[in-house]
Amino acid sequence: DKPITISKLLTLHAEGEKITMLTAYDSTMSALLNRCAIEVILIGDSLGNVIQGHHSTTPVTVEHMAYHTQCVARANTQAFVIADLPFASYGDPMQALDSAAELMRAGADMVKLEGGDWQVEVIQYLVERSVPVCAHLGLLPQSVHLLGGYKVQGKSKDAASLMLEQAIACEQAGAQMIVLEAIPSSLGKLITESVSIPTIGIGAGPNCSGQVLVLQDMLGMSPGKPPKFVKNFMDGNSSIESAIKAYVREVKSGRFPGPEHGFAG
Ligand code: KIV
Ligand code: NA
Repeated sequence: DKPITISKLLTLHAEGEKITMLTAYDSTMSALLNRCAIEVILIGDSLGNVIQGHHSTTPVTVEHMAYHTQCVARANTQAFVIADLPFASYGDPMQALDSAAELMRAGADMVKLEGGDWQVEVIQYLVERSVPVCAHLGLLPQSVHLLGGYKVQGKSKDAASLMLEQAIACEQAGAQMIVLEAIPSSLGKLITESVSIPTIGIGAGPNCSGQVLVLQDMLGMSPGKPPKFVKNFMDGNSSIESAIKAYVREVKSGRFPGPEHGFAG
């Protein structure tokens, strides 16, 4: 198969086909996701939790992200590759460009950053210099110490309309995709209908343009109680490969996420 490009993803979106995304941090899982025809692989800074054993993503550095992006990219033949800009690596446009350049040299096709209308200048600067950008709104894990925990965002009417404005601002600044994390399903639908770029939901309801989960979460491997939006795809599947293929099928058919994985407004 030909590699998935941003134009291919935008075509899928225009045709109303759901986009499938999962995280990966190493080459074994990257190869497996390729065999399962996952369209987008995200090297998430969730690797701070999943790989490094931290309690948040804030200790993750650009160097860590570049290392794991290289590991994933080596085994990738088809998927579009997005890498997270980690905590405090995009405080101003020039720092963001340096950080993004490292991730792209490591094999990323696009970088993802957390925020928001306050990132408009950074997004614009990156896109003008040919760095494709995915924005991330809703629950922002890099802000956990500021927020005092992982909470559903955009629940009040004011917070919801603010987030909608932020999504529009990100699109106008040149972002080509937006991840929406832990928001009411109704807000996920509203934002998706209000922007023309694809939205990729994680706990944002069934109406986003695509879905993403942390790989270890959807394989039921993560310690502790998983967030409500996670489904364990190993239930009823006898191999990791068949679990990931079930995820792809269920995202494509709209079966995942179900109402039980969503948040009310
Ligand atoms: O770091 C990550 O894995 C992410 C996804 C949860 C969207 O940002
Ligand atoms: Na992330």
